[in-house]
Amino acid sequence: KYSRQIPCRHNDSGGPCISTLGLQTYYYFISFLQALDNLPSAQSCLPFNRSLPACFNGFGRDILQAMQQQQMNAITSFIDGSVVYGSGPKVNNLLRDLCGLNGKLTVNEHFKDPKGRPYLPFEESLQSVCLHGEENVACFRAGDSRVNEGLPLTSLHLLWLRQHNQIAETLKHLNGHWNAETIYEETRKIIGALHQIITMRDYVPKIIGKEFFDNYIGPYGGYDPTVDPSASNVFATAAFRFGHATISPVVRRLNASYQEHESFPSLKLHETFFSPWRIIKEGGIDPIVRGALGTQAAAPHSNKLLTDELTERLIVLSIPQDMDLASLNLQRGRDHGLPGYNDWRDFCGLERIRTLEDFKQVVSDASVAERILQLYKHPDNIDIWLGGLVETFSPGSRTGPMFSCLIAKQMKALRDGDRFWWEADGMFSQEQRDELLKVSLSKIICENTDITEVPPDAFIFGKYPSGYVSCNNLPAMNLEAWREEKSEGTNYCTGASLSFSVSVPSAQEAFNDRPQKRKSTMTSVTLRKANIMRQTENQERKSLNKFYWGVVNTQQRNKLQRTPKQSSLLQKER
Ligand code: HEM
Repeated sequence: KYSRQIPCRHNDSGGPCISTLGLQTYYYFISFLQALDNLPSAQSCLPFNRSLPACFNGFGRDILQAMQQQQMNAITSFIDGSVVYGSGPKVNNLLRDLCGLNGKLTVNEHFKDPKGRPYLPFEESLQSVCLHGEENVACFRAGDSRVNEGLPLTSLHLLWLRQHNQIAETLKHLNGHWNAETIYEETRKIIGALHQIITMRDYVPKIIGKEFFDNYIGPYGGYDPTVDPSASNVFATAAFRFGHATISPVVRRLNASYQEHESFPSLKLHETFFSPWRIIKEGGIDPIVRGALGTQAAAPHSNKLLTDELTERLIVLSIPQDMDLASLNLQRGRDHGLPGYNDWRDFCGLERIRTLEDFKQVVSDASVAERILQLYKHPDNIDIWLGGLVETFSPGSRTGPMFSCLIAKQMKALRDGDRFWWEADGMFSQEQRDELLKVSLSKIICENTDITEVPPDAFIFGKYPSGYVSCNNLPAMNLEAWREEKSEGTNYCTGASLSFSVSVPSAQEAFNDRPQKRKSTMTSVTLRKANIMRQTENQERKSLNKFYWGVVNTQQRNKLQRTPKQSSLLQKER
């Protein structure tokens, strides 16, 4: 039913359709039913790379669980700004401006925007996939390797880089005695907090709806060491991919009056994939950011869930043909062995779908329900991503009840299981928290572009000029709350040689240093410990996470016990 091995069995000429690389286990093809997809025979298969499996999960007493295949994480699950800084020291060191002694991130040495603002640095690669025609523009580098996927995403990365450097500059000015390391870590801490605030306060409630937010997530109650903050398999592989149905086929580029840009017209989505040259040669990010603010997210039509730009024209690195994101999503769910739609409804306390009539109750379009059941034959067979996507949205949300439930559970875990959550004890002073809360994505846009009018909440669509406000009218964070008097007798490091002398704690030291124990706000050394600890935790979770949601059915999940290794880790924490 949920086959892990669903390579195409035959191509149109009747021959076997297997990987030409000889890596059948990790690279194979997704087959299509010709009649359904109307595809030319040459396109009856799409190549598919399996997610990298973790090695034998041989611990614990249950041999069946130990044998289950799990996938490797590539990045941290925490909402911690790692999208700006990377998830490990190697990328982090490439992104930092270690020469400037100012705690900033490194910027592009070759180009600046029309008003002299910086761009992201280039990835160093001889054969950059982003090179285009005569334009000598390589791919950008950022904390997340997907930065070049599309122009709006690249623009967001750039906003955060600029924001980091602005804050670092002000902190340096306020605290002349801080060394580069302290400025960098304090700035990173602020940026991490802003990511958490904007995600949890401004974004998530609009996606899952206020009711789900209040019922499943609720107000913050402090760090809970028993909560596992790893990204669950079902969240990454299905639920949060709801976003693919919100993508519009056109990336609009607008002028200062939020009208079609005279020089840089709007683009089809596929024209924006891996095209950083368009930012550098076509007016910077301002027209793209205005386009994102001034355009409504696509509303999935139950008959057409994803735009053709994503199902017919998707570009994926290392695959030299147009791809189909819907197929990748479905196949990824099977690749990871996710249980089907009905099992997840069960998991969320929702009624299982038993009949077509049941299904019609949860899907807004009856004919879609009919077609899906015709195809899958039995409701238990429906792939979770598809089932979740066609559910009617809950009131005031952009997802149906099952995705809302799965997203809410994940977001709560990411918040409550993060000992460095911005509201946790000892993270920030009350004065600093008050300042952080003033920030909005709209204000960040104002401060890092030449855009002068924005909707006050960037996540609420408004048709210009209705509801737009002048940037001057939005509250700004006052970094005075971070001013620190140089205390007598303290030997502050001020130069490069000293800034590198901060010792890196062992994982054990990092584990023992919990934020609850501290009264003052965190120091840069502790911050480094926090970052190292999060990485260590993620490594641990890779092996501990076997029992988390992903590959178990509901009965198995209910029986799951914490493993001896998990218990001893938690013991150490206490
Ligand atoms: C133009 C916009 C986008 C493009 C081209 C895009 C493309 C992709 C691709 C190619 C993958 C990997 C598919 C696979 O092989 O399994 C992916 C994964 C994913 N996408 Fe998107 N995506 C876009 C927007 C979004 C949005 C708006 C969201 C959520 C709000 C989202 C959430 C995800 C998630 C959660 C994953 C899985 C990541 C992981 O495994 O850790 N994507 N996307």
